[in-house]
Amino acid sequence: MALPKLLLLLFVGGALSLTFFSEAGEVGVCYGMMGDNLPQPPAVVQLLKQHGITMVRLYDADAGGLRALANTGIKVGVSLPNDNIPDAASSMSYAVRWVQSNVQAYPGTWIDSVAVGNEVFHQAPWLTHQLLPAMKNIQAALAGAGLGDAVKVVTPIALDALKVPSFPPSVGEFRDDIAWSVMRPMVDFLEQTGSYLTFNIYPYFAYKYDSHVDPDFAFFRPNNGQHDPGTGLTYFNLFDAMVDAVFHAVEKLGNSGEHTHGNGRTRRRVASLMRVPESGAPGGKGKTGVASNSKLDGSASTENAQAYNSNLIRKVLSGAGTPYNPDADISVYIFSLFNENLKPGDDDERNFGLFYPNGTQVYDVNFTRPGPGPGPGGPSWCVANAAVGDRRLQDALDYACGNGADCSGIQAGGWCFEPNTRVAHASYAFNDYYQRNGRSVQSCDFGGCGSVVYQQPSFGNCVLPQWRNGLKRLGGGPNTGPPYVHLAQG
Ligand SMILES: *[C@@H]1O[C@H](CO)[C@@H](O)[C@H](O)[C@H]1NC(C)=O
Ligand SMILES: *[C@@H]1O[C@H](CO)[C@@H](O)[C@H](O)[C@H]1NC(C)=O
Repeated sequence: MALPKLLLLLFVGGALSLTFFSEAGEVGVCYGMMGDNLPQPPAVVQLLKQHGITMVRLYDADAGGLRALANTGIKVGVSLPNDNIPDAASSMSYAVRWVQSNVQAYPGTWIDSVAVGNEVFHQAPWLTHQLLPAMKNIQAALAGAGLGDAVKVVTPIALDALKVPSFPPSVGEFRDDIAWSVMRPMVDFLEQTGSYLTFNIYPYFAYKYDSHVDPDFAFFRPNNGQHDPGTGLTYFNLFDAMVDAVFHAVEKLGNSGEHTHGNGRTRRRVASLMRVPESGAPGGKGKTGVASNSKLDGSASTENAQAYNSNLIRKVLSGAGTPYNPDADISVYIFSLFNENLKPGDDDERNFGLFYPNGTQVYDVNFTRPGPGPGPGGPSWCVANAAVGDRRLQDALDYACGNGADCSGIQAGGWCFEPNTRVAHASYAFNDYYQRNGRSVQSCDFGGCGSVVYQQPSFGNCVLPQWRNGLKRLGGGPNTGPPYVHLAQG
């Protein structure tokens, strides 16, 4: 009981510290090393610290990088490359040796995950059926070293693991060749080991290769949203849509012991835990290497990359889930830390960096929670407009409580029953509905009765919560009370 009270105090005081809620919404970077002009690892670590970056992902287990990251408090993901998957899958002693020399050898480094392979279904499909055995052997080796819980085994998956198309999100489904043979047992494994889903999410590539994709939707800029007829939800960015397509696909795999399709009503725990191992967009100036497509040409790409990465980071740090899974716990690694001049592929590939090799930012991006100066993108709440009058407020209040908002807190005796005013109660219900629906602008409309605000509202002792994992039930508790009752008139 002490912990929720402490959280409440922090919240009321407005001194919400992100690092405090370390399990929800953390931003990291991918530390690729394919450049001949990159700084040495100790200088890289200084750069990470200077910018408040708390997680980093390596594409191998580079000794210099792992040593430099020791005793920094930075969480590190290491990777077992695709080439090593056959050995790890077939030989337990190989897995044990790999863990010894790439994890146990760095006791001062906070290694929190091992990525087994990288986009195997996409980059090395011939290894598809060795992937899960390799993950299991690495997990067993970690467990043998006493690291079975501290270090999570994952595998970054490219979004083409889903059938095309994957919009709207509710049609999201894994390809037939991997759904039941690989993904289903893999999700079971992730669930059993307390790990998380890891899908690379690149709205940028959808935009680049599909002329129908609205750039504002792709790059987190204001837009009219896109409707998912399967769920009735509205999406305001492609990142959320892609993540929800994965959540839908996982749900269609059913729960343990069942092979039922459809809307699994009891969602697996792992089906709300998403750590996006890569997401980003290329900056840089001038041509992008796709000359035939004029929308990709010119200085707009830096603006797009800045809009995308800034808003993605803000979203993640705010703890917001997705429209379909509002309390999902989503962390992201931005691809990539540096522009890497030796990366193969078109110019884009070498220009995903947040930093130039000299440590200068390619464009301004903040990795820490925005300070004072609240605004769109930061935390937000939904409150009732008193001006619309009691009758309309009551109708909207009834609507919210009847359509998914948890109104137990404003029943007699509930933690937000006082002050017993219609505006306070409607604000409580609107806010619950809004937080629950991924804080989409439309979910605070209520026929003009609701408004989004960026300062935490309070009514007496009732401070409207912003949902975060573990915090959304703050003060509310499970809905065990009597059904919501109308306020007394007057
Ligand atoms: C770092 O490199 C970039 C790109 O080459 C350049 O524009 C910038 O001026 C450099 N910054 C410093 C401090 O040298
Ligand atoms: C990052 O933070 C600094 C200082 O708070 C601010 O001046 C700057 O505008 C912010 N940049 C972005 C992209 O939000």
